[in-house]
Amino acid sequence: MAGMSKDAFLHELLGRMSVEEMAGQLNLLTGAMDATGMKHSDDLEAKIRAGHCGAVLNVYTPAATRALQELALASPLGIPLIFGYDVIHGHRTIYPIPLGLSCSWNLDLIGRCARMAAAESAADGLHWVYSPMVDISQDPRWGRVAEGAGEDPWLGAQIAVAMVRGYQGNDLADPTSVLACVKHFALYGAPMGGRDYHTVDMSRREMEDTYFPPYRAAIDAGARTVMTAFNDIDGIPASANRWLLTELLRGQWGFQGWIVTDYTAVTEMKNHGTAATDADAARQSLEAGVDMDMVSEAFLSELPALVKSGAVREEQLDAAVLRVLETKWDLGLFRDPLARCNHEPVIHSTAENRSLAREAARESMVLLKNEGEILPLSKHQNIALIGPLADSRRDMLGCWIAAGDESLAASPLDGFREVATVVHAQGCGISEANEDLLADAIRAATQADVVVLVLGENWQMNGEAASRTDIRLPQCQRELAKHILQTGKPCVLVTMSGRPLELTWENSQFPAILHAWALGTEGGHALAEVIFGDAAPVGKLTMGFPRSVGQLPMTYREKPTGRPFNATEKYSSKYLDAPNDALYPFGHGLTYAAFDYGPVTASCTEMKPGEPITVSAEITNRTGHPATETLQLYVRDLVASVTRPLKELRGFQRITLDAGESKVVSFQLTDADLAFPGPDYQPLTEPGDFVAMVGPSSASVGCVRFTRTAING
Ligand code: GLC
Repeated sequence: MAGMSKDAFLHELLGRMSVEEMAGQLNLLTGAMDATGMKHSDDLEAKIRAGHCGAVLNVYTPAATRALQELALASPLGIPLIFGYDVIHGHRTIYPIPLGLSCSWNLDLIGRCARMAAAESAADGLHWVYSPMVDISQDPRWGRVAEGAGEDPWLGAQIAVAMVRGYQGNDLADPTSVLACVKHFALYGAPMGGRDYHTVDMSRREMEDTYFPPYRAAIDAGARTVMTAFNDIDGIPASANRWLLTELLRGQWGFQGWIVTDYTAVTEMKNHGTAATDADAARQSLEAGVDMDMVSEAFLSELPALVKSGAVREEQLDAAVLRVLETKWDLGLFRDPLARCNHEPVIHSTAENRSLAREAARESMVLLKNEGEILPLSKHQNIALIGPLADSRRDMLGCWIAAGDESLAASPLDGFREVATVVHAQGCGISEANEDLLADAIRAATQADVVVLVLGENWQMNGEAASRTDIRLPQCQRELAKHILQTGKPCVLVTMSGRPLELTWENSQFPAILHAWALGTEGGHALAEVIFGDAAPVGKLTMGFPRSVGQLPMTYREKPTGRPFNATEKYSSKYLDAPNDALYPFGHGLTYAAFDYGPVTASCTEMKPGEPITVSAEITNRTGHPATETLQLYVRDLVASVTRPLKELRGFQRITLDAGESKVVSFQLTDADLAFPGPDYQPLTEPGDFVAMVGPSSASVGCVRFTRTAING
């Protein structure tokens, strides 16, 4: 290798590889330190020794990765392995689930969290994280909304970029950088019925308008790998969809990295019914543009014979292998293959990392309701902390916790006990009632000054393979709530979940509701800070909470339709038994303050092509202490060549105002902000009338109209 250029080295190596060894480089096998799919990789070590494995997932720590890397280095060609893992919201130090952290709307914080996860992963022998998951979704029945950034493509794209940059840093050879993996390509967040792995059927326009932008942004930010989704697209499984992977991703978007399938997705094409054999599946997948086969081993078992028979062109195999080898070069693996596994275990959850996790937890919580300003509570009251999640450290971590250690996590009880006098009672199980627990809880409530009820989903009720048709709190938890409310004690509800919940009944019963998602290692401490006012909640929902599961799928970005909602007109688009809007809409989130919004103004009434327009609004902090608000800017294209949403997010600003302070907040709108996919699906900005909106949520905005003139206007 000494003195050889990358290109010369890689082509020389490729020239020495047998077709079996080439197929081996495209073979991703799983270790046993975690289980993230049905099939396991038997004889993993034998395959590595033979040079029939290019990468391994679900193995980490310097010792475990070194043991396997040394086997690979001893194989005939000694090509090093890449180690990958599902580091979704932290590796050892766990921060809030991505849907929760997205509610911070703090791109810098999100990037810093990804950077921390990268450093902890790399110190544990890893090169590759299966993140960011950037699937847009409008359906909280789908449990994997927990892993994404909600329903809005414009915000989701910005969060995707922040995460890719956090993971990959400026140089993959940096010992703290890891490969990002954009998933799940594509459209996985729109399964029929919100049921995981179900069919996706979608117009190209909706793909371009709503679902593609975050994938595209992550690719443009330099993400080095992409993972294919389990679902079919236009009837072709994503892992065999040449239009998706080669014509669009590589051809139109210019993706230069490599494509890995999701877990056993190659052989699952037989279940889809588009391949009769593993050989069919392997051929279809490679020809579509897939480079690496996760765990199904169809590439290893079938491609050598397919190439030898001429059914698959060897050049196709060469190209896939080169993309993988190039990444190994860029990671520095050929220069120093043991760089990430030749040290003793690193102490991960350092004070600095825990401090960042705590900051992230604070900023992820969303105050949904606070009537009579019952929150924040005084620490000098007798507090009853009740509920099946109140003392759970594991559920505070949430789904997909990688190497997270629940013993290091702070439950709500851990956090509360540090700052107040607390009596704890479980009240019921997650999904089963218990008379004795209920009696204890009623007694604890009766003896307290105020009750904090912690209810919601445990960590197995969301994430992968965890879709729900009923997204309310479990029945026994609602029964517990009724009994606690009947004591007449002031009661605050804290909800935890990996998805928007249906909280219509709770909204009618509780004066205050704070949604805490699953906040990670420092969750209990951050929750106590917000409940007792040492920190104010700043989160804003990135996915609306429906009034009823019957409204789903739903989005604030809905279109007007030909018969827009009209409460008094029978023949207008509405339900007989529920309103159209969300209970808590996209962008909603309160804080411990009140703001006044002045009128929204525009710098001009006519926007000329190429010249931005400035939209402004004055905001005043009416409270006697400093307060923070995230203002949002939305736009509507009133008349266009295709139907356009009633509103779309196109800007946000977080500001902190002193007591009584007023400030004019301004946003710039450019032609690009008004663009939409044209007839050729390329960005198109048309002349015409627009409305700009500014406010604290998608459902509470002031408006100003302006006209964008034609070129000759
Ligand atoms: C799982 C998930 C995917 C994950 C992969 C590896 O089935 O769908 O998100 O990265 O397999 O664990």
